[in-house]
Amino acid sequence: MTQTIPPASFSITGLKTVGFAAAIAMFSAAPLLAQSAERGEKIFKSCKACHQVGDKARNRTGPVLNGVIGRQAGVAEGFRYSKSMRDAGLSGLVWDAEAVVKYLVNPTTYMRSYLDNPRAKVKMAFRLVSEDDRRDVAAYLAGFSAPEQAEEPGMQPGAVQTALAAGPGMVCVQNATAKPYLFASEGDDGSRLVQSLPPQDTLCTTASVTGIVSVFESSDALEGCSRIVTAGTTEQLLKYADFDRCAWSSNS
Ligand code: HEC
Repeated sequence: MTQTIPPASFSITGLKTVGFAAAIAMFSAAPLLAQSAERGEKIFKSCKACHQVGDKARNRTGPVLNGVIGRQAGVAEGFRYSKSMRDAGLSGLVWDAEAVVKYLVNPTTYMRSYLDNPRAKVKMAFRLVSEDDRRDVAAYLAGFSAPEQAEEPGMQPGAVQTALAAGPGMVCVQNATAKPYLFASEGDDGSRLVQSLPPQDTLCTTASVTGIVSVFESSDALEGCSRIVTAGTTEQLLKYADFDRCAWSSNS
C-alpha cells in the first residue's frame, strides 16, 4: 500500500514571536479537545515505554512530551534526536495535534514525506493504527504544557527575543540586510529556533557558552550560511550569499 501524507503546511513568515507556535497549536488543537483526552491517557500507556509526561518527566528512550504540542520538532532539552527529526524542526515542523495524528500512523513514512527524502530515518519505531487512538492521544498531550523554566530570572530556554543586543546567556542573530531571510539560532543547551526575520529584526536563544546562528534564503533552500558565536553576542547578517559566503559582522 502506498500512502501519501501531505507535509504539515504552515507559514512561518511574518509571525514574529515564539507565540506563533502556541498560536498554531491553539487553532488546530481546539477541535481536538472535543476528542477524549481521558481515553488518550489510556492510549498513552503504549507510549510510556519510551516517553514521559507530567511534573517529574525525564527523557528516556524518547524525549519528554510536555509542551510538545505547539513546539518545534526535535528540540526537547537534552534529548539526542535523529538528524531527520532535527532537520524537520529546522525546516519548520511544529507539532500541532494534526501533525502528531499523521506522524503516529508511521513516523518514518511521515518524515520521508515531510522532508521529501526517501532515506530519512527517525528513531521512533512505533505506530498507532487507529485514527481515534491517534486523535485521543494527541488531545491528551495537548493538556501537558511546557515545563516551568522560570526558576532563575532572565530568559527562558528557547525564548525568542527581539532585543538589539544579546545579554549574557543568549546568542542572537540580527538581519541587517534589506530583505527577509530564514534564520536559525541554536544554543549549546539544546535550545533552537527557526524564524523568518524581516530587515532589522533579531532572533535570540539561550546558550551557556556558544551557539550557532544560520541563515537560509528560504525554508527549502539547502545551502545557507552558519557562524559559531559566543554567548552574549549578537551576530549581524550584513549581506546574504549562499554556500557560506555571507558577510557577517564578525567576518567583515
Ligand atoms: C519504542 C519507543 C517509543 C514509543 C513506544 C513511542 N515513541 Fe515517540 N519517540 C521515540 C523516539 C526515540 C523519538 C525521537 C525520534 C527521533 O529523534 O527521530 C520519539 C519522538 C516522538 C515525538 C516527537 C517529539 C519531538 O520533540 O519532536 C512525538 C510527538 C512522539 N514521539 C509521540 C509519541 C506517542 C504519542 C507515542 C505513543 C502513541 C509514542 N511516541 C511512542 C520513541 C518512542
